[in-house]
Amino acid sequence: MAFPLFLIFLLHTNLASSSSSSSDLRPEFYAKTCPQAQHIVRDVMNKALLREARSVASVMRLQFHDCFVNGCDASVLLDDTPTMLGEKLALSNINSLRSFEVVDEIKDALEEACPGVVSCADIIIMAARDAVVLTGGPDWEVRLGRLDSLSASQNDSNNIMPSPRQNALGLIDLFQSFNLTVKDLVALSGAHSIGQGRCFSIMHRLYNQTGTGTPDPAIDPSYREELDRLCPLDVDQNVTGNLDSTPLAFDNQYFKDLVAARGFLNSDQTLFTFRETREFVRLFSKHQHKFFQAFEEGMLKLGDLQSGRPGEVRKNCRVVNGRAAHMLLESPQKMENNVQSM
Ligand code: HEM
Repeated sequence: MAFPLFLIFLLHTNLASSSSSSSDLRPEFYAKTCPQAQHIVRDVMNKALLREARSVASVMRLQFHDCFVNGCDASVLLDDTPTMLGEKLALSNINSLRSFEVVDEIKDALEEACPGVVSCADIIIMAARDAVVLTGGPDWEVRLGRLDSLSASQNDSNNIMPSPRQNALGLIDLFQSFNLTVKDLVALSGAHSIGQGRCFSIMHRLYNQTGTGTPDPAIDPSYREELDRLCPLDVDQNVTGNLDSTPLAFDNQYFKDLVAARGFLNSDQTLFTFRETREFVRLFSKHQHKFFQAFEEGMLKLGDLQSGRPGEVRKNCRVVNGRAAHMLLESPQKMENNVQSM
């Protein structure tokens, strides 16, 4: 029994050999090891956009759901295993996060060009930026050099990710706990300038906002009629609607819609109904360049969140490299059998 344990220790320490912190991140991280990395990511994102326009928004959302849960470490990309409930089926993600296949496609292209070099966590960061650029938003230099996590946690995701029913005060507190300011919160919510949401996310708002069977009074009446038609009470709640009135263009229309009381999610409209966030909504609705600048800054800060835990560069974004070793760890009997037959 002592030998297998020793082997397990070796395998494990090999897997978890390094960790990174946000101060290690830098734009030129792959300049020598994979100079074409950023070009490859943008190329695949461009193809994804042409295939299905919404997919780039879906990929961009991954940065938020990855980085808030134990740092930007691609934990959100891990599939569940018999012993690990990952984040894909967490409350905010199930039937909702999508376009994982686009990340797989990027990873495959990068593995072909520079095997074992570019982390899945960095892919998310580059791809999120490219989603913005390809839909007409600003371009910026991203910092790179993240490692991929060795595990994921459904519980952590459930405990951290905000509900669309959340109000501005709750969102301010949540973002503050990540050192993100009120301005960051409002600017980053502008990510909803592209993409769609499900009826599931607004049923409460449309039919029972305060628990008395009435809708959210903050919705413009004609927009509410539109939403009622899209999402009647007996609707299949996976039906989707646009998050703003120009869902394929990254622009400040989202903020103009909020000023006009035409925000899709409660968590969007609340940014205009609450005094604490309203002036930023108004500012961004009037000056697109101010929104773009604040959005870039917010995305860089979001991308700097790191857990400091050990990590690796995964070969496949859906599984940790040492999966076989982990399975052995989980089943000492199987391990012994394997060693005996060596
Ligand atoms: C401020 C708190 C936030 C809340 C409560 C929130 C909530 C949501 C919800 C409920 C949806 C629709 C999901 C569905 O119905 O299936 C959604 C979609 C989306 N979110 Fe957020 N979100 C927030 C912030 C962010 C941030 C910071 C980003 C990115 C930086 C982001 C990017 C997106 C994108 C791009 C979509 C559309 C995805 C698609 O079309 O597949 N969100 N969000």
